[in-house]
Amino acid sequence: MYQKPSTKFPFINRQILRRLYLVALVILATLVAIWWEQVQTPKSMTVTSLTQPEEVLVGEPIQPIPVKIALNQSKVALGEKLFHEPRLSADNRVSCLSCHNLSKGGADEQAFSIGVNGAVGDINTPTVYNAGFNSRLNWNGKFETLEAFTEAVIQNPTVMGIHWQVLIPKLQQAPEYMQAFTQNYADGVTTANVKDAIATYLRSLYTPNSRFDQYLRRNKKAMTDAEKQGYRLFKAYGCVSCHQGMNLGGNLYQKVGLMGDYFRDRGNVTNADLGRYNVTQDEADKFVFRVPSLRNVALTSPYFHDGSVKTLEEAIKVMTKYQLGRSLSQKDTQLIAQFLGTLTGEHPALNQK
Ligand code: HEC
Ligand code: HEC
Repeated sequence: MYQKPSTKFPFINRQILRRLYLVALVILATLVAIWWEQVQTPKSMTVTSLTQPEEVLVGEPIQPIPVKIALNQSKVALGEKLFHEPRLSADNRVSCLSCHNLSKGGADEQAFSIGVNGAVGDINTPTVYNAGFNSRLNWNGKFETLEAFTEAVIQNPTVMGIHWQVLIPKLQQAPEYMQAFTQNYADGVTTANVKDAIATYLRSLYTPNSRFDQYLRRNKKAMTDAEKQGYRLFKAYGCVSCHQGMNLGGNLYQKVGLMGDYFRDRGNVTNADLGRYNVTQDEADKFVFRVPSLRNVALTSPYFHDGSVKTLEEAIKVMTKYQLGRSLSQKDTQLIAQFLGTLTGEHPALNQK
């Protein structure tokens, strides 16, 4: 095992060398044990924010959602009250919650939702969870901030359909809102403050700790082998070139039907199908959409802007055919679907039964 003592160190005899070897061996074994412990321990319970990048697997195209985001909780509470408030609509019947059911993945399980005065929407309701991480909002990416979005949705004639001149006095006449607004804002109930409270609440609707995020935080046991295989396929087939970043989407535009005419095959092209063209009037933007986030996607059927697909496996088949120009085996489709199932995160409202 050991070498002859070097003649350079005549004072070190074999006995001492043997002890030194033993000590070195013990130190090495301890270091290996500590490293192994690090690899095996779930990190998600201790990590509090993304400011600790060393805790996360390096080189992955997707980042975990921060475990904790600092927000003014009093404004969050006011925003939550407004989110649930039917008086925010012209007919006092529709609240944000009507379409964005928080215990149903933040959407409503319908292809098209019903808004104020029974108006039927022309595009599928996306989830509100994690919308704060999308750099573009809506299927056509028309809005860049939650505040600008809220400004529009309140007045949208097929959603809430109310004018600020009507809504502000309505809230001012409600003592509970007068109190809550003056508590949070020096100037009480104003348009800007309604938008700020709702936007703050929307920012609180993030869903950390999905099993996939735990895996990214180096908890290898958080995902099954099949799910990990699904993740590898998700990257290998190129899904991740569009669905990337913290939200697996929400930050790019892409044409729907890059590799095949999705709309001709589906039929009945509507105005909403024109996508980003409706914002820019640029021919090149026809049928271009914001790539949606895949966070919590297992909970948000039906899929696509037209709500045309009910199951994840079917959605994956449509994607591989029209976005990648390939066809997938049933097995690979299932594996990717299993991976997508690990993207369901945690939020008290999401997990309530
Ligand atoms: C009638 C159903 C309905 C109601 C009510 C409704 N929404 Fe929506 N919401 C939608 C639809 C449909 C979209 C997508 C619109 C589009 O892409 O053109 C959407 C999009 C959103 C988005 C953007 C999500 C993203 O990632 O792009 C947010 C945020 C949102 N709604 C919040 C709200 C808030 C806040 C309220 C209440 C003030 C509200 N919604 C009321 C149907 C509704
Ligand atoms: C070229 C970009 C691109 C690629 C590649 C791509 N997607 Fe998509 N994905 C999109 C766009 C754009 C949409 C929105 C389509 C629509 O609504 O009509 C979408 C929608 C989806 C949806 C539905 C989400 C929802 O909430 O409705 C799923 C699921 C999905 N993609 C999974 C995948 C998978 C799995 C792959 C790889 C096999 C993949 N995508 C490859 C761009 C892409």
